[in-house]
Amino acid sequence: MTIAIKNINGLFLLSILVGLPTIALAHKNHAHHHEEKQVEATPGAAKALAEQLAKINDSYKRDVKPIFQRSCFDCHSQSPNLPWYNSLPLVHDLLDGDMKEAKEHLDFSNDYPFQGHGSPKEDLEAIGDSVRDKSMPPFRYRIMHWNSALTKEEREAILKWTDEGQKLLAEPSH
Ligand code: HEC
Repeated sequence: MTIAIKNINGLFLLSILVGLPTIALAHKNHAHHHEEKQVEATPGAAKALAEQLAKINDSYKRDVKPIFQRSCFDCHSQSPNLPWYNSLPLVHDLLDGDMKEAKEHLDFSNDYPFQGHGSPKEDLEAIGDSVRDKSMPPFRYRIMHWNSALTKEEREAILKWTDEGQKLLAEPSH
């Protein structure tokens, strides 16, 4: 027992030393495990859900991820490539909190389903809302990263994806 706990601590320390990619990997496995757990009672439903999520992830990677990489990843992913202006002291102070907090809400690092506090369906809803009310990316970020604002076409592509995904997840699993 003691040895097992020690090993877990060691592994955790190692993850910190090796850096974020290891932690991201661990999270990925967690997320998948979590999904399976929710529908443990009916293996057929678990399979149907996994297929729906995989389908939503396919269209995410094709239609939405390139947009998110440009406009959202600085804050919502474990990306080690911080923008150059983040090294300017004032900008750093302004955005540092955002970058830490954003991932707790929603982490795009390992594709869909995303990590964060929401369920796969809630995440689609929240993303749709943020695109509709134009609250993301935050204004203070857009003024420094002018290229991050979403165009009309990009907003439409994201909303098409969130709407279709929500519809798919609303279907009864069989
Ligand atoms: C400058 C950093 C920053 C960028 C860039 C950014 N966000 Fe955020 N985002 C945040 C922060 C901070 C929060 C948490 C606080 C809040 O809700 O305002 C958040 C919260 C969210 C939430 C709410 C999550 C929840 O369920 O609580 C959604 C959805 C979201 N962001 C989507 C996006 C999308 C989509 C993009 C790109 C188009 C984007 N964000 C770009 C910082 C950012």
